[in-house]
Amino acid sequence: MSPPLRKFVDPMPIMNTIKPTSKNKKGHIYNVDMREFRQKLHEDLPATTLWGYNGQFPGPLFDIDQGTPINVKWENKLPSRHILPVDKSIHDLDTQPEVRTVTHLHGAESLPDSDGYPEAWFTRNFKDVGPFFERKTYHYSNQQRPLTMWYHDHAMGITRLNVYAGLAGMYILRGKNEEKLQLPQDDYEIPLMILDRSFNRDGSLAYPRQPDQDSESPELPDPSIQPFFLGDTNLVNGKVWPYLEVEPRKYRFRILNAANTRTYQLFLDSGDPFYQIGTDGGLLQKTVQLNQLPLAPAERADIIIDFSNHQGETIHLKNNLGPDADPEDETDDVMQFKVGTTLKQKDTSNLPVHLSRIPTLKNNRITTLRNIKLASVVDEYERPVFLLNNKKWMDPVTEKPHIDETEIWSFINITDFPHPIHIHLIQFQVLNRQPFDLDFYNKTKKLVFTGPPTPPKLNEQGWKDTVSAPPGEYTRVIVKFKPHTGRYVWHCHILEHEDYDMMRPFDVVD
Ligand code: C2O
Ligand code: CU
Ligand code: CU
Repeated sequence: MSPPLRKFVDPMPIMNTIKPTSKNKKGHIYNVDMREFRQKLHEDLPATTLWGYNGQFPGPLFDIDQGTPINVKWENKLPSRHILPVDKSIHDLDTQPEVRTVTHLHGAESLPDSDGYPEAWFTRNFKDVGPFFERKTYHYSNQQRPLTMWYHDHAMGITRLNVYAGLAGMYILRGKNEEKLQLPQDDYEIPLMILDRSFNRDGSLAYPRQPDQDSESPELPDPSIQPFFLGDTNLVNGKVWPYLEVEPRKYRFRILNAANTRTYQLFLDSGDPFYQIGTDGGLLQKTVQLNQLPLAPAERADIIIDFSNHQGETIHLKNNLGPDADPEDETDDVMQFKVGTTLKQKDTSNLPVHLSRIPTLKNNRITTLRNIKLASVVDEYERPVFLLNNKKWMDPVTEKPHIDETEIWSFINITDFPHPIHIHLIQFQVLNRQPFDLDFYNKTKKLVFTGPPTPPKLNEQGWKDTVSAPPGEYTRVIVKFKPHTGRYVWHCHILEHEDYDMMRPFDVVD
């Protein structure tokens, strides 16, 4: 358990924006290396050894205009030993270098050779590379609809550890035509990367070597992967429980949940609502007013908060832990806003009702319906293994959508907790969710619905790349596969699940 850490004593850092190092005919070139460094994450905590992009946690912010292609050379300058316990009993990791990295830009329509395939990993100075390694410099064309993305490590079998060590950053793709909406901008538009971590007294990151087990169960490998991870502190932009000084006016926050397992239920203790304007895939059609904002791992929410009626007050961004929460659990706090009394200049920003147009995929001809079971089995150590349609990562590819065709993927969650399902390359639309009798299903393998389908929540009625599939529900999404063919992946974004073994390859074919 983390040592006691006072709340709201550190100012929240604002991410710094990365600049290109050179330019060629394929656009600007950025150099990003992954290295080990130490950073103070809280005033009461000694500096923490981390791994980060350009030695920063979070990594530098990419703020790129739509239509501007860029190239990024991701380089590994990390040591050969991991700073966290690596379970080598999974994915034949005992035959591979311990420290491998590959960067994925989550939400992007990347070509397969720049998507960060889990087996396209590489080690320090590209000394060793994985079987699917193709290129050192990744290309991002940035032609797609403007949105908030993030980049993070995706190396096979150790993604949970590499991301936990700090390999994550945010990427804004900015649209010129969004300017006419006059949303809060510049100093009043702030990306927030929210995640949970635990610490040892010496400031080092704490991540369990093994799951808790009872004396009856067989001896586990040491270290051993665990089925989930919840930290006991929350960090925003790399500080534990920070505060942010704000002016009494409107702000735009681009929020990312970058936690391994934790789903947040965000709310403001002032009772003020969030005005959600965007989701994973960019602006919604209409602004949605919410008192509570659920955010599963990898989901993004673009929101406006209006502090103008709270001069001189402090307001807290909270996480609703629900009625059964342990009173000792301190992760109900996220951060604090200290609202000042004066404005630098008059707030001329807008809170528009109409934001963008989103053409529905519902009228497309559907070529394929896929039912996908989210289920678990146990391995030889009696550890749970979460699977997609009972297939492991190494099984042959079963999903081969045709380019430009539209499919419906239905996730049948027969486990007892929600899984945030993410598909690379595309943004999809959520069709609906329908409850079924889970006990009856487990006894008879028959799917009996217990209610009508419910439409997605208002703030899910836009483009999404990650959808929460609740237990005992049938969650349907509609997907048009474009604009590239080739090999990609889809997976549960609980990183402990993705690593073992809730991730599958898919091929977009001609
Ligand atoms: Cu954010 Cu395949 O990942
Ligand atoms: Cu992704
Ligand atoms: Cu999962």
